[in-house]
Amino acid sequence: MSVVLSIVNAKGGVAKTTSTQSLGYAFKEMGKKVLLIDLDAQANLTMAVGISPKEDLNISDAFLDNCKITDIIREVNGVDIAYSGHSLISRESEVAHSVAGAVKLRSLLKKTKDKYDFILIDCPPSLGIYTVNALIASDKVYIPMAAEPFAWNGLNKMLETIDIIVEEDLNPSLKLGGLFFTNHSKNAQTILGKTIVKEAQEQLGDKVLKTAIRTNVALHECIVMNQDVYTYAPESNGARDYKSLALEIINS
Ligand SMILES: Nc1ncnc2c1ncn2[C@@H]1O[C@H](COP(=O)(O)OP(=O)(O)O)[C@@H](O)[C@H]1O
Ligand SMILES: [Mg+2]
Repeated sequence: MSVVLSIVNAKGGVAKTTSTQSLGYAFKEMGKKVLLIDLDAQANLTMAVGISPKEDLNISDAFLDNCKITDIIREVNGVDIAYSGHSLISRESEVAHSVAGAVKLRSLLKKTKDKYDFILIDCPPSLGIYTVNALIASDKVYIPMAAEPFAWNGLNKMLETIDIIVEEDLNPSLKLGGLFFTNHSKNAQTILGKTIVKEAQEQLGDKVLKTAIRTNVALHECIVMNQDVYTYAPESNGARDYKSLALEIINS
C-alpha cells in the first residue's frame, strides 16, 4: 500500500524541495518504489533532477484533464517524477474553478497510487489550490522549518488549514507527520535558534522529529549537478541526515 506525504511550509527557502528530493532518493536507496510530485510553478524539483520545465505539458495539464498523469511522469535514476512548469501559476484559477477543484490530485493518484510505496509532494510556498490539493491527497504532512527569524510566520495558519481539512471531512485521515529542522547547524548554537527549537517542542511536543538536517554543501551542490545527494555524495552529512529522517518517518 502506498503512503502519500506532503512536504509543506508557506515560507520559501526552508528546504521543501531539497527534502522532497533527498527523502525520495533515501527511500529509493532502501528499495522502495517512489514517485515525487512537483506542485511548485518554480519547478525547482523538476530542474534539480535535470528535467527542463515544459510549458506545453506538465502536471497542470493533468489537473485540467488535457493529459493523463502518466503522460507527465518521467523516471530519473530509479525514481519517478511528475514534473512541473511555470504555467502552473497562470492556470491556478482555472484549476481552482474546475469541477474536481481541490480533490483533483487525489483522484489523479487513485489510478497510479498502487505502483508506489511512497509518493512525496513538493508544495509551493503558499496555501493556494495546489497545496490544498496536496493536503487532501495525502496521508501525512511533514513541515521542514529553518530555525531562523520569522520561522513561525504562517505556521499556525498552516496547522489551522490542516485542522479544517480534517474537520470538514475533506480528508479526515490526514495526519501531521511532524516538523523537522533543516539547514540546522547554521543557527543551532545561537540563542534565536535554540529559542525557536524550544518553542516548536513546547507547541508540538513529539511531533518535532528527532532528526535535524545539518547545513551541508553537498545538498546545495548536487542540485546544480542534477544529481541526487546519494549519487553525488553518498557519504556526506546531507545523505546521512536524510537517511535518518527517512528511517524516522518509516518507523513512526
Ligand atoms: N541542509 C542544507 N544545507 C545547505 N544548503 C541547503 C540545505 N537545505 C537546503 N539548502 C539550500 O537552501 C536553498 C533553499 O532550499 P529549497 O529546498 O529550494 O527550499 P524551498 O523549496 O523550501 O524553497 C537551496 O539553495 C538549497 O540548496
Ligand atoms: Mg521549493
